[in-house]
Amino acid sequence: MRLSQHERLERACAQLTAPFACVDLDAFDANAAELVRRANGKPLRLASKSVRCRALQQRVLDGPPGFRGILALTLPEALWLTGHGFDDLVVGYPTADREALERLVRDSAPVTVMVDSVEHLDLIATAGASAQSPVRVCLELDAGLHLLGGRVRIGARRSPLHDPRALAAFAADVLRRPELRLAGIMAYESQIAGVGDAPPGKRIGAAVIRAMQAASARELRARRAEAVARVEELAGPLEFVNAGGTGSVESSASEPAVTEVAAGSGLFAPALFDGYRRFTPTPAAFFAIPVVRRPSSAVATALGGGYVASGAPGRDRLPEPVYPPGLRLDAREAAGEAQTPLHGRTAAPLRIGDRIWMRHAKAGELCERFASLFLVSGDRIVDEIPTYRGEGCCFL
Ligand SMILES: Cc1ncc(COP(=O)(O)O)c(C=O)c1O
Repeated sequence: MRLSQHERLERACAQLTAPFACVDLDAFDANAAELVRRANGKPLRLASKSVRCRALQQRVLDGPPGFRGILALTLPEALWLTGHGFDDLVVGYPTADREALERLVRDSAPVTVMVDSVEHLDLIATAGASAQSPVRVCLELDAGLHLLGGRVRIGARRSPLHDPRALAAFAADVLRRPELRLAGIMAYESQIAGVGDAPPGKRIGAAVIRAMQAASARELRARRAEAVARVEELAGPLEFVNAGGTGSVESSASEPAVTEVAAGSGLFAPALFDGYRRFTPTPAAFFAIPVVRRPSSAVATALGGGYVASGAPGRDRLPEPVYPPGLRLDAREAAGEAQTPLHGRTAAPLRIGDRIWMRHAKAGELCERFASLFLVSGDRIVDEIPTYRGEGCCFL
């Protein structure tokens, strides 16, 4: 008999005391394979902020071909990972951490840092980089969609470098500095990769999102190709051109100018990645919280649970009760610091000590709340591994 995911998790974790977090390896591995399939032959760079667990990152990189290298969140994180044998790291966000830059120079670590302004270049020079011990840099191009002459900007506020000529001029600044090695270009189209095009219950909103994403993908394809061509004219062939994220794997990988696609969230498949037409990953990361009181016959209240995701506040940032199916959060209390009341048709039969299985809205942030993850395969626990937090690391 084939067990449901809920039954497998309950059987595997029967002896554990909630709260705890676990990863369904069957779902996790299937999600990794699905990302590789969607990338259609282009390598994937693992976005580590969306995992934050060294052993799972190693599992993906050591697994079936498809993933290569890490897109790290911070420079201290990247340096820490090099100390554990990871050797192809790009930090996806600029740094102003002088001490970490000095360590990068001193250790000649295999880490590429993100730059988009002359101040970033000056910081690297001040940290002691030289022609003898150069620092590898990646230029970030803004991937946003600008409308009405730039008065309307769609997409995350990241790099100031939007125009391909501006990126090429900045590349020329980099090339004039012997202490820098220009390794690649990155542009992250958050308005496609991080915005679901099938938000539940919002048909008109979905149509607007799809039109925006189609226009943005078209515009970016041409602009990114021009930017890469202009920079390569000055610098020669780049080592990589990184694009996208979980939500944009197909469109990013399909651009001839792109050599690799970043992805991470699609592995854990948190709640914010439910609303996409292009893919349906299987939820793989959960946390379990125990029912500790019954304020009425219709409500079961569980301990803790208020692990709210970052970003603009809204209901979509709340964790989601998954199992038993049919539960919902309280409209006023939502998910709380000390307790989370649950309503719904399956709340009534719950008893004190039963556990509620929840999903975080985002991926790696879950690992900032738990020191370890229990790994479930089939209906058994096969390992318990530390998260970054469990290894004493609190990078961001
Ligand atoms: C630079 C960059 N690339 C890629 C991603 C996509 O990661 P994920 O696949 O986890 O959505 C992000 C996420 O914020 C990012 O900031």
